[in-house]
Amino acid sequence: MTAKRNARSGDEFARAERAAKFILSKTKLRPRIGLVLGSGLGAFADELSAASRIDYKKIPHFPRSTAIGHAGRLVIGKVDDVPVAAMQGRVHFYEGYSLKEVVFPMRVFARMGIRAVMLTNAAGGICRNYKQGCLVVLRDHINLQGSNPLIGPNDERFGPRFHDMTKAYWPSYREAALAEGRRLGIEIYEGVYAALTGPSYETPAEIHYLQTIGADVVGMSTVPEVIAARHMGLRVLGISCVTNMAAGILDQPITQEEVLETGERVKGQFVALLRAVIARMAEDLK
Ligand code: HPA
Repeated sequence: MTAKRNARSGDEFARAERAAKFILSKTKLRPRIGLVLGSGLGAFADELSAASRIDYKKIPHFPRSTAIGHAGRLVIGKVDDVPVAAMQGRVHFYEGYSLKEVVFPMRVFARMGIRAVMLTNAAGGICRNYKQGCLVVLRDHINLQGSNPLIGPNDERFGPRFHDMTKAYWPSYREAALAEGRRLGIEIYEGVYAALTGPSYETPAEIHYLQTIGADVVGMSTVPEVIAARHMGLRVLGISCVTNMAAGILDQPITQEEVLETGERVKGQFVALLRAVIARMAEDLK
């Protein structure tokens, strides 16, 4: 964003407010829960009833996703009786966006009145108990992207200069996701997510290092959004789908096809889990 464009469109808060107003003008629903559906996991949005679909490119100031497997559409609709706003696809640091642009949708969510977010992603499995296709509820994360979306002047209207990250992933949501997953017979674990920038997948030596520092899954997203969401006091749930075992865990290369195919394969389970967990999150917000 150049200084000139900035002067024209106002600050981040004003831009988020404008985008939020635009979105709310397209629907009568007033969702309190936001979802981000990661690579190959967008199918859940097709399950929503009474849905309004808005392409990111129509929303003022919204970043456009260029990654494969990301539709680039915001869907606002109902899951059973609960209104939600679901992002089919996100933008990543590796696409060349700044971290402020990456987290802009979280700013917009908060301005729309959203109070809880569920962030999903495709990830590489580091923990040896994991198998391709299993789901991992995030307990915590390690930010290895070398930056933070909050660097720069702090806007107190969003949140404080320094904010706590000790319980970044809302404990009761973690418990609910694990319990619902088990009830549905899904292979589900709890683990720590390490975020790297990508876009190259990791080397086996990097995965060995990540294992040593306590990471269970690795990916290229989610962490900036969690940081921004917590800055604004939103409650966060993170779920990874292990689309492949990380580099060097199995003696085989990692491909984008495999990542998307696994997302497709676990679609049914994933949709069932999200549906059950959203009901619990809605209960919690009452
Ligand atoms: N590494 C990083 N990001 C990923 C992976 C991986 O192995 N799989 C899916 N996203």
